[in-house]
Amino acid sequence: MPDLIGKRIVLGLTGGIACYKSAELLRRLQDEGAKVDVVMTEAATRFITEATFQALSGRPVWVDAWDARMANRMAHINLARSADAILVAPASTDFLARITHGLADDLLTALCVARGAVPLLVAPAMNHEMWTHAATQRNARQLLADGVQLIGPAEGEQACGETGSGRMMEADQILRALIAFFQPKRLAGRTVLITAGPTSETIDPVRVLTNRSSGRMGYALARACAEAGACVTLVSGPVSLPCPDGVTRIAVDSARQMHAAVMRQAATVDLFLAVAAVADWGVANPSAQKLKKSAQAPLPPLQFVPNPDILADVAALPGGPWCMGFAAETEHLHEHAQAKRLRKGVELIVGNLAQEAMGAEDTELVLFDDQGAHPLPRQGKLQAARELVLEISRRLPPAPSVATAPL
Ligand code: C5P
Repeated sequence: MPDLIGKRIVLGLTGGIACYKSAELLRRLQDEGAKVDVVMTEAATRFITEATFQALSGRPVWVDAWDARMANRMAHINLARSADAILVAPASTDFLARITHGLADDLLTALCVARGAVPLLVAPAMNHEMWTHAATQRNARQLLADGVQLIGPAEGEQACGETGSGRMMEADQILRALIAFFQPKRLAGRTVLITAGPTSETIDPVRVLTNRSSGRMGYALARACAEAGACVTLVSGPVSLPCPDGVTRIAVDSARQMHAAVMRQAATVDLFLAVAAVADWGVANPSAQKLKKSAQAPLPPLQFVPNPDILADVAALPGGPWCMGFAAETEHLHEHAQAKRLRKGVELIVGNLAQEAMGAEDTELVLFDDQGAHPLPRQGKLQAARELVLEISRRLPPAPSVATAPL
């Protein structure tokens, strides 16, 4: 489901070569259901034309503070007040300096000053020397203190041929930051440890035992927790997914490595969410050399050892984190999930049918707690993860010293 349905966004562009990325950003915002009004500074129109944004948005593009098309000639007031957010990408050195000081000498800066409580997000884009200059850094700190959200900048190769920090974030990163901004901050101030993906148990240097988990559900939950304001560490088995924005990932292979990585942190986090499909058995006698087929020994001489149960071990920690686990079953979901909840000593188990969920884009979850079963509708994994965050936040003990961030 698109994430920005019903949202009105003012997309501001200031002068910079990164303006070319903003055409893509506009498309992506619209794909997510946002209604976008584009405002450009004079300098931005030197890099990309108004016609591009007019054609892509199908709406007028605003440059001139005195534009006669806007009712009452109050473009800065009308645009700012009707928006759910103002997103300036690219935000130049000069623009950051001007809004830091409340200057309002063109339409874009005027609407930033006139915006009232409308949130302002800016994606800086400039040469690395300009970004690291003391004045720019001072301005960035002041903007943060004033409640402006900075998206990036990124490190890397720059249009001038130099390398450093100052590149504008890519369109999809900016889009994700905006989507995250709109999510309720239900886990603000909480630290969350999540396991995700399969584990892989070594047989010999070229062979492993693993399972069909794609890691999508655990990664979606990590993203949803980060969007909800949590500080998230993801202990991940081998998957081919990018790490969600703002999440710290620890890559592991085997169940024992996952257990060790989790136990190093478990005592210090507020929540532990076990989503990984952990192998129940490891190979007790992995071979240092590749096992060869032979007529005398047609089957490999494998012996198995049980792996530690990570979730049960964390749940048993005295004063440990609030815990949630998953139950992927192929049959008798309710019986198995409730039995697992009691056996592992956790408050909430999330059940699904493995054959339907593993590797799929969407999922149908059932929550099991001491009140019984609570089914959620079939939906995308990110959507399901956000619902899970809501369910988790309802069950958490209050965090005394945490101020809830604004929605
Ligand atoms: O015991 P079972 O594998 O069915 O339990 C599933 C739940 O327990 C999941 O949350 C999974 O991440 C967790 N688990 C674990 N360590 C294991 C096995 C499962 O943390 N060794």
